[in-house]
Amino acid sequence: VTAIDGLGYSILVETDALARLATLVRAHAPAHRYAIVTDENVARHYLTRVEEALATAAANASGVADRVHSVVIPAGEEHKTREQWARITDTLLAHGCARDTTIVALGGGVIGDLAGFVAATYMRGVPVVQIPTTLLAMVDASVGGKTAVDTPAGKNTVGAFHPPALVVIDPATLATLPARELRAGLAEIIKHGVIANAEELDRVSSLAPLLIARAAPYADLESLIERSVRIKAKVVATDEREHGLRKVLNFGHTIGHGVEAASDYTLLHGEAIAVGMIAEARLAEQMKIADAGTAAAIERVVKAVGLPSRMPGGISPERVLELMQSDKKRRRGMLEYALPLRVGAMAGEQSAWGIPVPDAVTLEALHRAH
Ligand SMILES: NC(=O)c1ccc[n+]([C@@H]2O[C@H](COP(=O)([O-])OP(=O)(O)OC[C@H]3O[C@@H](n4cnc5c(N)ncnc54)[C@H](O)[C@@H]3O)[C@@H](O)[C@H]2O)c1
Ligand SMILES: [Zn+2]
Repeated sequence: VTAIDGLGYSILVETDALARLATLVRAHAPAHRYAIVTDENVARHYLTRVEEALATAAANASGVADRVHSVVIPAGEEHKTREQWARITDTLLAHGCARDTTIVALGGGVIGDLAGFVAATYMRGVPVVQIPTTLLAMVDASVGGKTAVDTPAGKNTVGAFHPPALVVIDPATLATLPARELRAGLAEIIKHGVIANAEELDRVSSLAPLLIARAAPYADLESLIERSVRIKAKVVATDEREHGLRKVLNFGHTIGHGVEAASDYTLLHGEAIAVGMIAEARLAEQMKIADAGTAAAIERVVKAVGLPSRMPGGISPERVLELMQSDKKRRRGMLEYALPLRVGAMAGEQSAWGIPVPDAVTLEALHRAH
C-alpha cells in the first residue's frame, strides 16, 4: 500500500484495496453510520462489496451493524445537480442520519463532486470518504477537496471546498471501466506530466497500449496513478483554495472547456482537454513563453494514447471563443491561462500562475487547432 500524505488526509493507492476496505475505513474514517452514494453503473459492479465492508466497519465502531445506507443515482454528468443533491439529502434525513454519519462517494468524478457536496452541507458538514472508480477521478477529482454541482448557468457553479477524510484508490476497479473513459483519464495524467514531470510523457506513451488492452501489470498502473496523484497533492498542499499555484492545474482547460461545451458534451472532458493542451502549448510557443517543440511533444503522447489532437470538424473556433468568454477564468477582457515553459515546468510564477492572453491570440490558436 502506498499512502500519500501532506494534505491532512491519507490517499491510499492499493490494488484490491476494496477487499481491505473495512480495515482501512475503520483506521482512517471511523463512524457509526455510513451513507454510500454511487451511480447505477458502479453499483452493479462494486456496491455489494462496499456495503459489506462498511457494515463491518460500522459494527466495529459502534457495536451495532445495519448502519449502512446506499443511494444509487443515474449515471452521467446531467445528474450532477441540485435536484440529486436534494434527493440524496432527503434520503439521508429519512433514514435519520445525523452528524455520526460519514458519506462514502463510490464512483467517478460526478459522484465524487456530488456526494462531496452533500457531505459539505449535510448537518453543516460531515466527513466524506472518496473511493474513485474512474482513472480521472483517481488522479484528479478525488484529490483536492473541490466539490460541486452543475446548474443551468454552468458546470460546478454551486459548490464548496470540503477535503475528504480518506481517499481509497483501488486500480483493480479500472478493469470494468470503458476504454474510452480510461483514455480520457490519461489526459489528466499527461497534464500532470506537463506541469511537473517531463519523463511522465514517455512513460504514458509506452504503457498506453497495454493499459488500453487491460494487460498492464497492476504494479505499473499503481505507480502511474501514484506519481500523478503526488503531483496534484503537492500543488494542492501549497495552495488549497486556488489563490495562485493551484491554477497550474488548469493547463489545457481554458481552451478545453470551450471545446467540450462547443461539442455539446459529445467529447468527454479528457478528450477536450487533450485538444486544449496541444492548442494552449502552441499558443504558449507563439507567445515565446514555451520552448519550441513543447506542443509537438504533447501531441505525440496524445496520439500514442489514442486521444483526439484536434477539434472535430463541425466546431467553429468563433463558437469556442464565445463559450470561453463565460468561463470563470476570464479577467479584465482577456482570458487567463496556465501555460507551460516546457514539458515539466509551468510559466507565470510572477503573475500568480495566471497568464492573460488577448482574445485575438486565442482565436488564432483555435483556428490552428482545427
Ligand atoms: N473536484 C475536482 O477537483 C474535479 C476534478 C476533475 C473533474 N471533476 C469532475 O469530475 C467529473 C467527471 O468525472 P468522470 O470522468 O469520472 O465521469 P463520471 O463520474 O461520469 O464517470 C464516467 C462513466 O464511467 C462509469 N464508471 C465509473 N467507474 C466505473 C467503473 N469502475 N467501471 C465501469 N463504469 C464506471 C460511470 O457510471 C460513468 O458512466 C466532472 O463532473 C468534473 O467536473 C472534478
Ligand atoms: Zn480536467
